[in-house]
Amino acid sequence: MTDPAQEPTSSQTPTLGHHRSNVPAYETLQAQPQAATGASPTSTDPFSGIEADGDSPLAAELIETERLRRTLEATDFPRPADTRVIAVSNQKGGVGKTTTSVNMAAALASKGANVLVIDADPQGNASTALGVDHRAGTPSIYDVLLDDASLASVVQRCPDLPTLWCVPATIDLAGADIELVSAVRREYRLHGAVADLLAREGKQLDYVFIDCPPSLGLLTLNAMVVATEVLIPIQCEYYALEGLTQLIKTVEMVKKHLNPEIHVSSIILTMFDQRTNLAREVAHEVRSHFPGETFPQTIPRSVRVSEAPSFGKTVITHDPHSPGAVAYLAAAMELAERGVAAGGTQ
Ligand SMILES: Nc1ncnc2c1ncn2[C@@H]1O[C@H](COP(=O)(O)OP(=O)(O)OP(=O)(O)O)[C@@H](O)[C@H]1O
Ligand SMILES: [Mg+2]
Repeated sequence: MTDPAQEPTSSQTPTLGHHRSNVPAYETLQAQPQAATGASPTSTDPFSGIEADGDSPLAAELIETERLRRTLEATDFPRPADTRVIAVSNQKGGVGKTTTSVNMAAALASKGANVLVIDADPQGNASTALGVDHRAGTPSIYDVLLDDASLASVVQRCPDLPTLWCVPATIDLAGADIELVSAVRREYRLHGAVADLLAREGKQLDYVFIDCPPSLGLLTLNAMVVATEVLIPIQCEYYALEGLTQLIKTVEMVKKHLNPEIHVSSIILTMFDQRTNLAREVAHEVRSHFPGETFPQTIPRSVRVSEAPSFGKTVITHDPHSPGAVAYLAAAMELAERGVAAGGTQ
């Protein structure tokens, strides 16, 4: 449990993760050089003249991926004027919520944005992928929701990227959906904690992603009450659209009763395999229902994406040249640009 006495007073320098001595003052992060993906833009295209021949679609794909990566690497992503709080939700299990949360977050952080991921799933998968400690007993989102700990007292900096942070989830969270039932203002627990964090340090956080569990219980409700945007990952497989109506109804209900600002801002097609008719049909169906929300960029099914968490990494740092990493970087760019269209930039 977190000792409130450890909380910084307003006269002290607020830090995220100040319970860990090796974590720098959060406000100094702004002064750090922008985390970059590496090289500066190349003036010549090293692939010119190596056009893939028609018989080699794989080579053509590799060349296209590398071209796109270089373009994105050389592009500055706009940063939002205000912190964007995004709930990544779909009550269907295994559709790519966690993978999308951590990789979109890492992609934006790799371009210099200050990004916080709140792991709101007892499985703790986002904490694993971001390489932060989440053994039982680690200060976590449970302490925030049930014991009034501040987010700043439980947050950890991710080892791979200097501007990426994570509020971990431990197995303690498994009972939270039930424990919250009798809590005061049970739907607003996370809202209060995020408002408190942003009031102190909000100018410096560009994005907060909340990785929701595969249910529409109180944990997801807490995420939707604080978020202004919902990002829905949809796996391009049969049954993909099943349950989507219920998810959208839930968002509408939250909008009506608890949080007028919430809306489904983005839909991302995950584990897309363009060789199968089914994936293409699902993509077509989703785009025809949600033309404005669905990202043009799909996320391909890729071994690199699925193996990255076993190294405590996102694919953005695990293998930045892989098609999955480049696809998430392109989707993150789209997300950043949509934010500017909707609400301005810094
Ligand atoms: N683009 C991808 N390519 C290959 N594997 C993927 C991809 N995206 C996700 N996966 C794998 O699919 C599985 C489910 O993904 P993920 O954990 O992100 O889904 P989820 O919606 O968060 O699941 P849950 O509902 O259990 O929280 C994981 O094993 C993940 O590694
Ligand atoms: Mg998950």
